[in-house]
Amino acid sequence: MTQPISDLLARRRPGYALEQAFYTDPDIFRADMETIFYRDWLFAAPACDLPKPGSFVTHRIGDYGVIIVRGGDGEIRAFHNTCRHRGSILCKAARGNAPKLVCPYHQWTYELDGRLLWAREMGDDFDASQHGLKPVHCRELEGLIYICLAAEAPDFEAFATLARPYLAVHDLKNAKVAHETTIVENGNWKLVWENNRECYHCGGNHPGLCRSFTDDPTVTGIEEGATPPHLQAHFDRLEAQGYPSQFRMSGDMQYRLARMPLLPGAKSFTMDLQPAVSKWLGEVRDDTAGTLLKYHYPTTWNHFLPDHSIVFRVTPLSPTTTEVTTRWLVHKDAVEGVDYDVTRLTEVWIATNDEDRQVVEDNQQGINSPAYAPGPYSPIHETGVIGFVDWYCNTMTGRLDPVAVAAE
Ligand code: FES
Ligand SMILES: [Fe+2]
Repeated sequence: MTQPISDLLARRRPGYALEQAFYTDPDIFRADMETIFYRDWLFAAPACDLPKPGSFVTHRIGDYGVIIVRGGDGEIRAFHNTCRHRGSILCKAARGNAPKLVCPYHQWTYELDGRLLWAREMGDDFDASQHGLKPVHCRELEGLIYICLAAEAPDFEAFATLARPYLAVHDLKNAKVAHETTIVENGNWKLVWENNRECYHCGGNHPGLCRSFTDDPTVTGIEEGATPPHLQAHFDRLEAQGYPSQFRMSGDMQYRLARMPLLPGAKSFTMDLQPAVSKWLGEVRDDTAGTLLKYHYPTTWNHFLPDHSIVFRVTPLSPTTTEVTTRWLVHKDAVEGVDYDVTRLTEVWIATNDEDRQVVEDNQQGINSPAYAPGPYSPIHETGVIGFVDWYCNTMTGRLDPVAVAAE
């Protein structure tokens, strides 16, 4: 990198895309990981991915491997996936079920709550209680598991308090994962987010999604307080039925919730616009409720519909590659082939994800050119992108420069 990141942040032009280095430079990528991903709360998995004691999933975020496991007491905990003996990775599988966590190297054996239970012939002085797995902050919020890699986690309560009632009516605790996909997009993680935060591209790229999802910028944008009357009427009608819907966003724009209408006649994200699942997940019984949109930077955007929910997870892999994992959640008692058809349930978003992958990769390719210069965002259609980039730059600036934080 030729310039310190703080200089690049200081000279950025608000309302414009970022300079090339933010999308390509390995040093900025490392700064993104250390400043944001190793410090913030990250959505990791839906709790229904861990249906019983001993169920575990593993997740890698940059240099960190994490095990998330449901204990014998039903509690979900997260640990660093590194043995306290000589550091071997403990769980190699992406998911599974195990009565104990056993290291493959010398078989040190850990309880599901992280305590070291057994270590062979370590001598009389060995104190097992000092060699439990190192914990990772872990919170379950209405069926969504969030983790934080920082030694001291930032506040989670403000987000949890706001989001809890919105999520509660979708009853994710009684969900199961009907389908999961993981794709790798050859683009910087910020390009994945920039693309997600606008629907300026939808009409030209998403023929399937556009059957049900509007590209109305008042739906996809972030201008709190600028809610037009037809949207306010939608919020009010659903709130009166007990379904939290009002547009709410954090002051720093890190997260936003709003229940937005689909296009007239559309009840779900299906090609035929009808619900994808006959046994609905949650309490929302109004098939015109649309989709509860939730995003939470830096790792997740979501759709919660009356019949099913979709949770997306963004994980940076390198300066120019990003993993996107999508899980379709349905009621745990819904029977495949009877209550839903997996193809019908997933086809719109599988296609949409692939279309988004293509535009993100094209965007990255163009940015890689020495001729690239940051262009302006649309103040009509890309307020969500402006909000994302502002959040990113403000977060980076504040954390790179503690004086700036103190002065805020
Ligand atoms: S490294 Fe895990 S038991 Fe030796
Ligand atoms: Fe898209």
